[in-house]
Amino acid sequence: MASEGDVRARLRRAGQEHLLRFWAELEPEPRAALLAELAPLEPDALREHCQLAAAAYARHPDPRADLAARLQPLPPDRLGSASRSDTETRRRWEEEGFRQIALNKVAVLLLAGGQGTRLGVTYPKGMYQVGLPSQKTLYQLQAERIRRVEQLAGERHGTHCTVPWYIMTSEFTLGPTAKFFKEHDFFHLDPANVVLFEQRMLPAVTFEGKAILERKDKVAMAPDGNGGLYCALADHQILEDMERRGVEFVHVYCVDNILVRLADPVFIGFCVLQEADCGAKVVEKAYPEEPVGVVCQVDGVPQVVEYSEISPETAGLRGAHGGLLYNAGNICNHFFTRGFLEMVTREFEPLLKPHVAVKKVPYVDEEGTLVKPLRPNGIKMEKFVFDVFQFAKNFAAFEVLREEEFSPLKNADTSARDNPSTARRALLAQHYRWALQAGARFLDAQGAQLPELPCLLPSGDPPAICEISPLVSYAGEGLEAYLRGRELQSPFVLDEDQARLLGPQET
Ligand code: UD1
Repeated sequence: MASEGDVRARLRRAGQEHLLRFWAELEPEPRAALLAELAPLEPDALREHCQLAAAAYARHPDPRADLAARLQPLPPDRLGSASRSDTETRRRWEEEGFRQIALNKVAVLLLAGGQGTRLGVTYPKGMYQVGLPSQKTLYQLQAERIRRVEQLAGERHGTHCTVPWYIMTSEFTLGPTAKFFKEHDFFHLDPANVVLFEQRMLPAVTFEGKAILERKDKVAMAPDGNGGLYCALADHQILEDMERRGVEFVHVYCVDNILVRLADPVFIGFCVLQEADCGAKVVEKAYPEEPVGVVCQVDGVPQVVEYSEISPETAGLRGAHGGLLYNAGNICNHFFTRGFLEMVTREFEPLLKPHVAVKKVPYVDEEGTLVKPLRPNGIKMEKFVFDVFQFAKNFAAFEVLREEEFSPLKNADTSARDNPSTARRALLAQHYRWALQAGARFLDAQGAQLPELPCLLPSGDPPAICEISPLVSYAGEGLEAYLRGRELQSPFVLDEDQARLLGPQET
């Protein structure tokens, strides 16, 4: 282990020696912990990081940052659509996606290193359950969708196939995520096919370019953003692992969308047939201030402009038909070929520009007292996963229906939007629609039939509670066999046991 002298010399070189200013007061254990935290920080990189953060803050908000004059919507030939294509085209995409899955060429990669600050929980967001009748967590829903898509691809092609699940965690989320998966027996996935790896952390920095101590013995560190993915892939030889398994296509997604379709065969097939090296799913933006990035072009190159970096005027611009001009909302579902990811980790990663977030960072003052600042006092630098789109040779966006594929869990129930209740309702409303489409009817306690048409109550809830296990249906398929002509009472849960009881019926 590095000595105090070594670490002090390195910090001096980085202009950050103040991080050891409480050294004399510390007991042996906190001393060791602090040294362990500081030792891996490479002096030149640390100095550069701190200077860059201060310089970025000095320019922040950058008057040039309003890219309005350089923005254009995506040209139509780069935008495919699941809902506006004919059945035959969709079927072709899906067929191709299933073929690639059956060939073991598709992996999913979850970005799960975030701290979930807005939701206000102390554990990883994937462990959250929004109050479904089954009480499933986001991780369980995702695991079951993987199992089902493997099964569907396997049945179509008469093979046994695997969609490996790569999970990027951070110092905050690795331990609890690993424990949670073990406690739940990896939700019946083979643990060999669930690969957890960790992204890097970076110090939060004051406006003057000094790394912040959050305790006498601890630097305020934060994950380096979801664009930290590319360093993490290289740090942990993840692309080599993919190569060994024969994976060619990777579906990268964020943890909090309760409707996420993992390894979505339609999306994968669309991207593969377009020969895209890089792709993004989008939904139509709901309102100008919606906190989603917009997929568009900057100086003619495909990019995402994040919601925190677009001006309200630009976000509110209207197109010829009255809709939002920049309406391709990023849902953080990306497609990459392994070859593209290799190029990024080899060549392009250092070119990614960090984004500045100005935050309230708790710190210890000169006397060693903990201060919880009322105003922002620190800078966190993050890279964004989508900033690699600019390097794609053939970028493609793919529009999907919000009600089928996007309901993110960002906030606590005290917020009006994107909270546990909206996520729960989105999933239950979808399952109610699927059940009706499959020919079920729902009865109230008195035996009277509930509305047939997919309509929602004023609360946003569906008229009946119906939850369908992803192990029974991935995207609404195959439900007629169990539900056609059935009269069901709310709440109704169609899990594997119930499915065995109900059918399959003759269709
Ligand atoms: C993200 C997108 C935004 C999109 C929205 C849709 C980015 C940078 N922004 O915004 O364009 O419209 O989702 O819901 O992608 N994460 C890490 N490591 C980190 C930070 C985050 O793995 O250091 C993960 C989170 O765990 C999460 C995902 O990245 O799974 C998205 O992060 P979050 O901070 O929730 O992004 P949003 O601001 O909601």
